[in-house]
Amino acid sequence: MAVLIDGKRISQEIKEELKQEVAHLKEQGKTGCLAVIQVGDDPASSVYVRNKKRACEYIGIESLSYELPENTSESELLDIIEKLNQDETVNGILVQLPVPDHIDENKVIGAISPKKDVDGFHPQNVGALVSGLPGYVSCTPAGIIQLLKRTGIKITGKNCVVIGRSNIVGKPMSILMLRENATVTIAHSKTKNLPEICKRADIVIAAVGRPKMIDDSYVKEGAVVIDVGIHRNAENKLCGDVDFDRVVPLAEAITPVPGGVGPMTIAMLMYNCVQAMKAGCN
Ligand code: GUN
Repeated sequence: MAVLIDGKRISQEIKEELKQEVAHLKEQGKTGCLAVIQVGDDPASSVYVRNKKRACEYIGIESLSYELPENTSESELLDIIEKLNQDETVNGILVQLPVPDHIDENKVIGAISPKKDVDGFHPQNVGALVSGLPGYVSCTPAGIIQLLKRTGIKITGKNCVVIGRSNIVGKPMSILMLRENATVTIAHSKTKNLPEICKRADIVIAAVGRPKMIDDSYVKEGAVVIDVGIHRNAENKLCGDVDFDRVVPLAEAITPVPGGVGPMTIAMLMYNCVQAMKAGCN
């Protein structure tokens, strides 16, 4: 029976550490302020944005909220980002994704100053990650590394299969696991013999976006299983990309949904905000 990897507890631990660090930085006259921009009123995005602002308040940094209507033009959004880039009171800028279809997401990501890009999505920060240089790292993958390390799971030399190749999770996740000396396979929707490939993994990271797709036919006995997915089923109950009930008897450790990876994303966003504050990105 698998050990549960407690993302709720570990994210709380990280936020406590950051809260103390922010208090010290404030004594040195440094301030933190995260600008959070949401375009439209997608309910899931509104929940994430609210939780991000709450986390700022909790650790003691300010948050500025931009709730823009769905019909905001791309140039209006880019103007706001440019003002925030120049604003010396702001050290982090985040545009909640997805943005509406009429706005080019890549243009928006590229417009944020890399120094204030606490999401770690700007090509300069992605390039830094790939090259092993300092920069902001995408929060969900960074959070998964913390979950593994703080649960005492060794990564070096392990076979890791990352299922999913998104810019936000799959790609940075695979680079981070490589940096931790894992042997990494990146699988995706077109991968042949996916169950067979996953069965070889010591660590499976599921970021496919399909409810309960990863069942016991994908997981070997004693594997560590990290579930990045979050979905609501017909009964409005949350579930992940992993069929938890079928995988829990054979895994060594597993993240639950909710309470696994989810809370770590916000904790690592706060970590990046504190890095921005320390670097004096304003
Ligand atoms: N949408 C889904 N995940 C994220 C995230 O980590 N950051 C932003 N800005 N938008 C998201």
